[in-house]
Amino acid sequence: MEVKSVKEVHTELLMHSVRFAKDEQGRRKGQDVLFKWPEIEKKLGEHKHIYVVDARLGSNNHTHRLWYDIIPPHTEEGQDWRTLGHRHTVEAIIYFLKGHGHSIIDGERYDWGPGDLLSVPMFSWHRHINDSNEPVLRIASTTGPLSLALGQAVYEDERFPEFWIYAQEGEDARKTLIPGGGAQLDNGQTLRNRSAEMYAEQVAFAMHEEQLRRKSKVLVRQKDLVFEPTAMGNLAYVVDPRIGCHSKALGVVMAEIPPGKRSGAHRHLYDEIDLIVGGKGKIIVEDKEFDFDTLDVLSIPVFQWHQYFNTGSEPLRILGINTRLAMDNLGLSLTHQGEHADYV
Ligand SMILES: [Fe+2]
Ligand SMILES: [Fe+2]
Repeated sequence: MEVKSVKEVHTELLMHSVRFAKDEQGRRKGQDVLFKWPEIEKKLGEHKHIYVVDARLGSNNHTHRLWYDIIPPHTEEGQDWRTLGHRHTVEAIIYFLKGHGHSIIDGERYDWGPGDLLSVPMFSWHRHINDSNEPVLRIASTTGPLSLALGQAVYEDERFPEFWIYAQEGEDARKTLIPGGGAQLDNGQTLRNRSAEMYAEQVAFAMHEEQLRRKSKVLVRQKDLVFEPTAMGNLAYVVDPRIGCHSKALGVVMAEIPPGKRSGAHRHLYDEIDLIVGGKGKIIVEDKEFDFDTLDVLSIPVFQWHQYFNTGSEPLRILGINTRLAMDNLGLSLTHQGEHADYV
């Protein structure tokens, strides 16, 4: 076996860093953009849970994924859940396309139907139940890949308490992410200086976050969406901390483009996955074009120009699920606006 010198090994490591951005450009250009509904539907006939955009299936998306699934009439996701359901240290959104049902999230009941969206708070216990006589068809998107890459992906399921990491059995399991101590010394004394205060804030952070998450907006109803004109066209913000959600990684917008019109063009550093919820159209991604239809999924490569065109006779509605907030929090924000929409 060839033995490399220290110099060779460490020169290679340096070049790996130097080459990475250029290599990544190539991976973005080569990634799959369009996922057609008829093919997804065929797979859903064989299995009720189909991953669509997922790094484990070759997608170049590093921060979130999207899957379709079906909950059969009068059943529940995760059969045999009876009380808590499950929870995870990833952010999740669920968008319902067909059927009616309800979710229990940290003991609260939320009823939903087609066009409604749930922003499931990080690490909240939750269950989703189909109350209707028809199958529930839905998509879900989570920051699973991001949490896995950070080494912080924890999935706790009421059926498998032997794999729980944080939950203590009993009431605490419903309330706390990391049951933590206070900032007092063992003798009960509280230190009064700036450094001690800053450290106490650090210890209290998880509990404080927990309270903010529990107070945040969870259910967004289709009828409550407010569309307003922007440089990209008519947009309704669906999940964003500026409208009452406590999201740190996932954001959601709904875009609407009238027949014969086009959106603005832009590019950005965050990952974006689009679900076509109504109408048909065309997208230009850099120098490529793709025709899409209702229920198709688009995976937008990072920092590639993209623009949407409504080529049908119905309004085109696109649900854009992105990890802009995660990138903002990492200081990696950059959005370039190109051509503006032609209808605002
Ligand atoms: Fe979940
Ligand atoms: Fe975009």
